[in-house]
Amino acid sequence: MDILKRIAEYRNREKELQWEGTFAEYLDIVKKNPRVAQTAHSRVYDMIAKAGVETDSQGNKKYLFFSKELFGLERAIERLVEEYFHSAARRLDVRKRILLLMGPVSGGKSTIVTMLKKGLEEYSRTEDGALYAIRGCPMQEEPLNLIPRELRPEFEKEFGLRIEGNLCPSCRFRLQEEYDGRIEDVIIERVLLSEDERVGIGTFSPSDPKSQDIADLTGSIDFSTITEYGSESDPRAYRFDGELNKANRGLMEFQEMLKCDEKFLWNLLSLTQEGNFKAGRFALISADEVIVAHTNETEYKAFIANKKNEALQSRIIVMPVPYNLSVTQEENIYRKLIQQSDLAHIHIAPHSLRAAAIFSVLTRLKESKKQGVDLLKKMRLYDGEAVEGMADIDMEELRNEHLDEGMNGIDPRYVINRISSALIKTDANFVGALDILRSLKEGFDQHPSITPEQREKYLNFISIARKEYDEIAKKEVQKAFVYSYEESAKTLMDNYLDNVEAYCNWQKIRDPITGEELEPDEKLMRSIEEQIGISENAKKAFREEILIRISAYARKGKRFDYNTHPRLREAIQKKLFADLKDVVKITTSTKTPDENQLKKINEVINRLVEDYGYTPASANELLRYVGSLLNR
Ligand SMILES: Nc1ncnc2c1ncn2[C@@H]1O[C@H](COP(=O)(O)OP(=O)(O)OP(=O)(O)O)[C@@H](O)[C@H]1O
Ligand SMILES: [Mg+2]
Repeated sequence: MDILKRIAEYRNREKELQWEGTFAEYLDIVKKNPRVAQTAHSRVYDMIAKAGVETDSQGNKKYLFFSKELFGLERAIERLVEEYFHSAARRLDVRKRILLLMGPVSGGKSTIVTMLKKGLEEYSRTEDGALYAIRGCPMQEEPLNLIPRELRPEFEKEFGLRIEGNLCPSCRFRLQEEYDGRIEDVIIERVLLSEDERVGIGTFSPSDPKSQDIADLTGSIDFSTITEYGSESDPRAYRFDGELNKANRGLMEFQEMLKCDEKFLWNLLSLTQEGNFKAGRFALISADEVIVAHTNETEYKAFIANKKNEALQSRIIVMPVPYNLSVTQEENIYRKLIQQSDLAHIHIAPHSLRAAAIFSVLTRLKESKKQGVDLLKKMRLYDGEAVEGMADIDMEELRNEHLDEGMNGIDPRYVINRISSALIKTDANFVGALDILRSLKEGFDQHPSITPEQREKYLNFISIARKEYDEIAKKEVQKAFVYSYEESAKTLMDNYLDNVEAYCNWQKIRDPITGEELEPDEKLMRSIEEQIGISENAKKAFREEILIRISAYARKGKRFDYNTHPRLREAIQKKLFADLKDVVKITTSTKTPDENQLKKINEVINRLVEDYGYTPASANELLRYVGSLLNR
């Protein structure tokens, strides 16, 4: 069985990664590759940087480490990586601060933290991200901490590495007891970070905010051994198993940080401010770890409004994580969430998610003061569309108009929940845009944070999204119709050219069936030319130009066809569209289509199914809907 083989492979791989040796041997490793002794912040930064960065034509950076799972947050991520991780990696003081991700619900904060955690687990298994620790240390601490203070300047000169940490109480004790002070003999091992095994990755989530015990973070007295060793300051009588201990060398996530009691926070923050924390009756313990917390804007505002918290604020680096503001990216978010959910097998008609995304993004945008930029235009600009008359708008300025844009509005999870709920309601085996928009609307009453004023605004956004969808739907059907009309387009063009030729040469045209001689069909020619704005006065010149082109082509032995003259092609297409409108109207709205109409409808449905991702049912629904739109 394949899976058993894979399990064995996995075990071997983990085994291959194991390494054990003396401190003396470890020094050789450090000499060859000083990177193994880098700080946790620097390792995280390396990991992110190694995954690569792409820069677009406007100079926006996309960090690939995050871009697989996070969409539309490039700006926030860039700031996070550069202002926090990059500075911290260079041993600037930000490293000693708690990183606080601040943003609206379901905006991706936890996802960022999870990616960092998972990333670190993997990275520690690669050569670049390898790290080592004193074997048996409950905090997997950096072996270089064994080097006594007095000798560090010399070491630093030779190795070009800074050592900051103090040896932890447990290792200090064992160095004397087990190794008799012989540092070079201390056994070192390679460490593979693992959240499940609580190695270098920790999560702290407050239980009861009022009675939170700081021991959860810093460890506690071991009551099973305290009688044996007699003293609370004997490291053997202490369990270094708090979350801060366990997360050493890696990352600790601090969930719901601002929900904690003030006193607890105060305690914690003073503990961590200098990269040290105090535990039990021991000297300060060094902690080399990234501490990431997250919170929402309301909680954060309440926190900073409290004067008592001022001292704490300076120990926190706040990074905003707003909602994505691009419609296309929002669609990607929904697709990802649907993939991960039990909706994955359901057919969602094309463009339905776009309709929902338009709505969500509109709820997050703030009005611009710039002339002529309404919300809809802003939405398009943010999505990278070219908007008429806005070619040279300063996007940076537009984005910076409201610093808290994206901090509220509809969250992606709400949309997914409403899609689920739409699904339950329908008897069909698919959901379409209208079902989703309706469901979004019906959910307003259950949404905890929608106020009555917002409700009005949101209803309006639903109808804007609906109108946008209507346009998309009409275009879609026309496209599908036109395809099966390509023959008609060619015929229409040949017909036009025959007439133009006859007109320019003062000839008559022969009816192919009756053989009758007729005047050129002025009405037909004009109905095409008008589509591209050719006036009565200009028609003669236009027709002559076409005739010249035809004969020029003929001289070169080439055929003047449908694609030769782009303006003429446009005119033909437009004319067909106009005619089609009527055909679509008639074919889709008659209750009892005739044989010919039925054939046409089936062709279009096939086309929608084969090329545009519909199912027969959703394609039928689309046709019916567009038919009703055209009949209005
Ligand atoms: N910009 C985004 N790109 C990709 N996925 C996103 C984005 N924003 C949210 N999501 C997805 O939405 C879901 C909710 O996000 P997540 O749990 O990370 O949010 P959060 O900010 O931690 O929310 P909360 O405040 O509720 O804890 C996740 O599955 C996440 O991947
Ligand atoms: Mg979260």
